[in-house]
Amino acid sequence: MADEILTEVIDQQIGVCRLNRPDKLNALNVPTMDQLIVALERFDADLDIRCMLLTGNERAFAAGADISEMADASMVELYYRNNLARWERIRRVAKPLVAAVSGYALGGGCELMMNCDIIVAAESARLGQPEINIGVMPGAGGTQRLTRAVGKAAAMDLILTGRMISGREALAIGLVSRVVPDEHYFKEAVNVCRELCRKSPIALRLAKEAVLKAFEMSLSEGLEYERKLFYMLFATDDQKEGMRAFLEKRPPVFVGR
Ligand code: CAA
Repeated sequence: MADEILTEVIDQQIGVCRLNRPDKLNALNVPTMDQLIVALERFDADLDIRCMLLTGNERAFAAGADISEMADASMVELYYRNNLARWERIRRVAKPLVAAVSGYALGGGCELMMNCDIIVAAESARLGQPEINIGVMPGAGGTQRLTRAVGKAAAMDLILTGRMISGREALAIGLVSRVVPDEHYFKEAVNVCRELCRKSPIALRLAKEAVLKAFEMSLSEGLEYERKLFYMLFATDDQKEGMRAFLEKRPPVFVGR
């Protein structure tokens, strides 16, 4: 099988997954998604890895689900294949997932990006949900995640018109976390990862879990859930180290226990 996903480890702690179908603007076919899920789950289970970085190349993060794979499929075929259900496994990745986005992040590419926890985009990135232009609608979470990220007005605009927006516009509506000049997008995402590597791995995981619960729970349920995770952290060495280091006016050394 071709290497649709390239992996590398930076600083022995950052697991990088790079989408690798440059000729097809990293269109997300089944082998690509299967390999991506396996790579992310491997990094997630590796105790030396503290966070993951997902990227494409300068021209494209990913231009969507692979249209050639589904153009002639019948409803019944798609329903039984149910390939999109596999994407749920990305949602279950426990470690922080940072996206470095340049060029196109469209349709399934934008939806994949929205699965990431911190999104660093190049100023001239082109983001959107253009499925409406090919007679369909988002199917990998776009109507739900985009609406939660940017609210109804911007989500309806993007999903019903299918128009693309720049990285700068995406920052203005809250779709991405940071925007940087094009040449710095990958370096900035690595810097974000390096910053995460200095935190307590266990606090990072629980903080991520709590933020994601905000999309699933009522406010009072979410507040209660958050409080329990907060109290749980007092069973860790990292909490003791973090607070002692503050009082002793020295940098903490977190070990993930
Ligand atoms: N699926 C399959 N192939 C794709 C693709 C996609 N989503 N996007 C680009 N490609 C392929 C093109 O077919 C082309 O391949 P060939 O050279 O073999 O012909 C190659 O990538 C380069 O693309 P273009 O020649 O089209 O490049 P461009 O610079 O002229 O245009 C673009 C770039 C505007 C991004 C254009 O490629 C495009 O509109 N792509 C489709 C975007 C889209 O509709 N995405 C949504 C897909 S559906 C989806 O994602 C459903 C879901 O929610 C899960």
